[in-house]
Amino acid sequence: MSELDKIDSFASAMLEAASIDELLWTIAINIGEILQFDDCVIYLEEDGVLKQKAAYGIKNAEYGELFNEITIEFGNGIVGAVAKSGVAEIVPNTADDERYIWDEFSGKSELTVPITYEGRTIAVIDTESPYVNGYSEKDKQRLQVIANIAAPRIASAQYCRRLQKAQIELKESNLQLQFTISQLKRNQESLIHSEKMASVGLMVAGIAHEINNPLSFSLSNLTVMKDYYQSIKKMNEEILALDGLPDDVKSIVQLNDYDNIIADMKCIVNETTDGMIRIKNIVADLCGYVRTKDTQKKEYDLNDSVGVAVNLLRGEMNGHCQVDLNLAAIPSLYGNGGKINQVLMNILNNAIQASPNGGMIKVSTYVDSENANIDISDEGTGIMADNICDIFTPFYTTKPVGEGTGLGLFICYKIIKEEHEGDINVVSSNKNGTTFRVTLPLPTCHHVSLKVG
Ligand SMILES: Nc1ncnc2c1ncn2[C@@H]1O[C@H](COP(=O)(O)OP(=O)(O)OP(=O)(O)O)[C@@H](O)[C@H]1O
Ligand SMILES: [Mg+2]
Repeated sequence: MSELDKIDSFASAMLEAASIDELLWTIAINIGEILQFDDCVIYLEEDGVLKQKAAYGIKNAEYGELFNEITIEFGNGIVGAVAKSGVAEIVPNTADDERYIWDEFSGKSELTVPITYEGRTIAVIDTESPYVNGYSEKDKQRLQVIANIAAPRIASAQYCRRLQKAQIELKESNLQLQFTISQLKRNQESLIHSEKMASVGLMVAGIAHEINNPLSFSLSNLTVMKDYYQSIKKMNEEILALDGLPDDVKSIVQLNDYDNIIADMKCIVNETTDGMIRIKNIVADLCGYVRTKDTQKKEYDLNDSVGVAVNLLRGEMNGHCQVDLNLAAIPSLYGNGGKINQVLMNILNNAIQASPNGGMIKVSTYVDSENANIDISDEGTGIMADNICDIFTPFYTTKPVGEGTGLGLFICYKIIKEEHEGDINVVSSNKNGTTFRVTLPLPTCHHVSLKVG
């Protein structure tokens, strides 16, 4: 193959190189073969220094593998000097040039040519000979021609690589951004939710307070009415029992269905009283929650609270479902143990009501680095995804009238989130039942000193 043919096939090989590394190895090998040099090393400018990237001859064992990836500063040694000046150099005898850096492959003469693009050194070709005066001016010119042919190709490969790197970085920062946005969204949603719950709580507490007075006098009026009813009944019975009561008086009483009215009146008063008492209990729950807000906090044992709640609800569970306790050692927590019992009872009660016959309710406690946690899982039919966001809202219930007030979880939410700086979450699917997780912060030095003081 003539030298021109070799240069032509070299130019084609450069075009075919898929990556900058492949390109540099192609250049090194072709220079060695076309110019019949014993060795040839290519340095590429990266981050302001020259890095050895490809080699031909004794300085590389195999294609793609370098013995020693040398890095040279601009201005250092002969390679660095040529990179800095942008002018090719022949060193006829390396022993006479103090810039020469000796190594195990040191040659006796050296030819170094810069690869420049748009006035900047982007790479350097360096070749060494085992002979003094191993290179001619013609060798220098031929190597410089090859360097000039390779320059735009190396520059475009470098550009492509930078572009790819930038693309990858952009993709990564995009992902990061998406993650941050979704986290922000979640934070915003939970903030809005907390705000909503706080204002709903205030409103509900206000309403409960307002209902309390009319409710009290309505109930006391009903009690008075019961007495009046007894008196009227007694009075009528006495009148009807009178000797010599005129028949027309007796027939008026019978005509107006006196017996049924009296019986019905009793029912109406009793039912109304029951209804009022139910309202009173709801209001008491709400007011109780508001009133007890300022009760003192102290150390309590979460596992004890679980025990209390389970024991109180044993009757509800009897024969219907079972409970499996898995309690880990938990350090004493700081808060209102009574209210935590109330929370556990509400959640457990819901679990019992949701459980199928023979179902198992699993209660487990455990700690992580910052919190004590309690999971309560049932095997019920779960909560529909669309309804999950409503369950902490006051008066939201799916239970029949008279069975649920829809206040249980609302009160739990308030106690855990607002009074204990904890968290309450639910995981539920229509197949695998429901798990409520209550998270309570482990006590800090502040709490301990409060307790000691
Ligand atoms: N473990 C559970 N499985 C399925 N649904 C549940 C569960 N816990 C709560 N729910 C749903 O959340 C709703 C609200 O619960 P919450 O405890 O606040 O009120 P409730 O149980 O209906 O009434 P109450 O005020 O008597 O507790 C329930 O009506 C029910 O639809
Ligand atoms: Mg409930």
